[in-house]
Amino acid sequence: MSIYQKILRPILFSISPEAAHTLTVEACRVAGNLPIAPKVSRALLTFDSSELESNVAGLHFSNPIGLAAGWDKSGRAIPMLDHLGFGFAEIGSVSARPSSGNPKPRLFRLQQDRAIVVNYGLPNEGVEVVARRIAAHSPKTPIGVNIVKTNDGPDALECSGDEIFADYEKSVLIIHRYASFITLNLSCPNAKGGSDFFASPGNIASLLERLRPISIACPVFLKVAPNPAPSFLERLLQEAEPYEFVKGLMFNLPPGKPDSLSLTTDRSRLIHMPGAVSGKPVENLINQCIRELYFRMPKGRFEIIGAGGVFTAEDAYNKIRLGASLVQIYTALIYEGPGVVKRINRALVHLLHRDGFKSIQEAIGTHTC
Ligand SMILES: Cc1cc2nc3c(=O)[nH]c(=O)nc-3n(C[C@H](O)[C@H](O)[C@H](O)COP(=O)(O)O)c2cc1C
Repeated sequence: MSIYQKILRPILFSISPEAAHTLTVEACRVAGNLPIAPKVSRALLTFDSSELESNVAGLHFSNPIGLAAGWDKSGRAIPMLDHLGFGFAEIGSVSARPSSGNPKPRLFRLQQDRAIVVNYGLPNEGVEVVARRIAAHSPKTPIGVNIVKTNDGPDALECSGDEIFADYEKSVLIIHRYASFITLNLSCPNAKGGSDFFASPGNIASLLERLRPISIACPVFLKVAPNPAPSFLERLLQEAEPYEFVKGLMFNLPPGKPDSLSLTTDRSRLIHMPGAVSGKPVENLINQCIRELYFRMPKGRFEIIGAGGVFTAEDAYNKIRLGASLVQIYTALIYEGPGVVKRINRALVHLLHRDGFKSIQEAIGTHTC
């Protein structure tokens, strides 16, 4: 058992999930501005190996394990993100205007399932603040920015398609020269209309058409609802294909508590926990989506980032062999602590050796059954 699991986790789990989240982000923000803490963190948490390096969508990654969107929503801890052992980090979701998100409580732990129920509804300080924070630090680790439509709350009037596109366009215009990559979040499960609008055929293509004249300076990924149906994936690929700046795809959490989740927590408890489920229960669904997408997508044209239930090197390796070029984690950090990144990277090298791969890039999409 690590120090995190023995000492820090019990303390963090004794306060509300949102208070624990805020506390850890603030601790990292403060630590990142101290003279010694980043160096100590780097020495303790980083594992380097040339076998883990890769080039994806024109960017260099020192290892394939990234921080998923939703932890550092407004880029408050950017100076520390270079020192936690990640090969990259995604901040956000961030929107054109600041948002306070959904009413509290909006975060719940499902310890038995190693999961979190999240109903944040996209609170963030707005894209202009995030752009300034990235510019002030110039991070060395690739920093992606996850962009979403502003959530004006449950009582807001329904937006027209044009207003939705304009909201994304404003954010992209402000952030594209600062971000290493942009992820367009087209499927927020917890905001009004968030998971519906882009499910309608043609709306993804219309957004991309609207963004085309910007000549976006960095690669763009699309984060979509996790749907393994061939008709959904084929339409997604068709809509993205004409837009050169779209370099990859990834899957978000499904809204609510669909039967496709492997949940053991009593469903009667879940009634009191609105929101989407992260962590182990989504792993199978996301893996199925990755497998089906990789099988159908033109190789070399698109890359996949895989996130959902990765706790160990085996979990990450599985996603890579199914077709993910990069992997992200979030819930594992909550249950295992920051040391999990180094543990995954170190054990990934053993898995590569075991299977005769010379680099992580060789292993992508090599799952055979
Ligand atoms: C507390 C929490 C907040 C999240 N917020 C966002 C978000 O703002 N934007 C987003 O695209 N995904 C968000 N996610 C989804 C994660 O980025 C990731 O796709 C998902 O949690 C699966 O990874 P995991 O099982 O390792 O947590 C959030 C997840 C959690 C647990």
